[in-house]
Amino acid sequence: MRILGIESSCDETAASIVEDGERLLSNVVNSQIDIHAEYGGVIPEIAARSHLEVINPVIKKALSDANCTWDDIDAIAVTYAPGLIGSLLIGSLAARTLAIIHHKPLYKIHHVEAHVYANFINQQSGNLFLSLPKKQPSFPLLSLIVSGGHSQLVLFQNHGDYQLIGQTQDDAVGEAFDKVAKILGLPYPGGPSISKAAKLGDPHAFHLPIAKLSGEYDFSFSGLKTAVLRAVQREVGKDFTFPSHELPGLVDDELRHNMAASFQFTAIKTLVDKTRQAYDDFQPASVVIAGGVAANQELRHQLSAALPLSIDYAPIQLCTDNAAMIAALGYYRAQIDQPTNPYDLEVQPSLSMTSI
Ligand code: KG4
Ligand code: ZN
Repeated sequence: MRILGIESSCDETAASIVEDGERLLSNVVNSQIDIHAEYGGVIPEIAARSHLEVINPVIKKALSDANCTWDDIDAIAVTYAPGLIGSLLIGSLAARTLAIIHHKPLYKIHHVEAHVYANFINQQSGNLFLSLPKKQPSFPLLSLIVSGGHSQLVLFQNHGDYQLIGQTQDDAVGEAFDKVAKILGLPYPGGPSISKAAKLGDPHAFHLPIAKLSGEYDFSFSGLKTAVLRAVQREVGKDFTFPSHELPGLVDDELRHNMAASFQFTAIKTLVDKTRQAYDDFQPASVVIAGGVAANQELRHQLSAALPLSIDYAPIQLCTDNAAMIAALGYYRAQIDQPTNPYDLEVQPSLSMTSI
């Protein structure tokens, strides 16, 4: 079964064709990072307009890269939740229209659940050269989902059968990377720029706190972000009233690198400690990481060192937003769900994974 996946929930317009939920035939991602970097974050109106400009060419390229015509496509899968409303609308309207015109079943996909399915793609066609996992994960599957909007631990007993066991009480970890990058004068998005700066710094230069929470598998990152802000204010000789947007001008390279390394070390340790705890308590057959922060090498190193089982990580290109994960989950959803009516699919910008 060949599924065309379409993704437009935030600042990437993407289309991809995946066969049987595991074989990647094409993967087209048009990122708007350069457009939003100028503003230090995603501007929703600009994101929606940019999706509109590129969605048709992106879908066309996904078909041609896979050497497919519409006759070769069995179904369409599209992100309908969660995300920016204007952005979600562009992808979902494109998918609804194409499903009607080409008489294809349409599956609505939850973006956060789909991140996990990047780990199910383990084959690719000849002209793609990603370093994919060798085999699919087994159930029960513990997944650490870490992105710009979510930080959660989810235990899957099977496809579509999962339980949220822990989540952030405040900021998502990707959001913390983005905010700390701003304090340190590093470019948006903060994840990759902090990782790069951290390579030049000492992860133990600053002792930053790990929040103690009542929920055994819950996270918190807002205190860590404030601790970074206070430490930077102190280092540059200003008190807590000094505005954070004026700090980057006073931060030198040594402080920037050491703080990036110390923040990254602590944020990742928080994630890894809770994942280890959940692993011990639930004894899953596999562990996967998913979402943009799963691209982080420090996370991969710390997690591999902390867990007794080996992890076959998904390639970085499939950790950040893409449509291959949407098409992959579309396949498994098609086995358990009825297609959705293309005439009345509504987007749900703030639907969490627990409520689907
Ligand atoms: O999954 P994603 O592409 O979009 C959302 O669904 O949110 O995740 C984006 C987030 C951003 O906060 C970005 O800073 C973070 O992923 N990110 C990283 C890395 N690459 C992207 N965080 C840490 N290390 C990275 N290498
Ligand atoms: Zn995402």
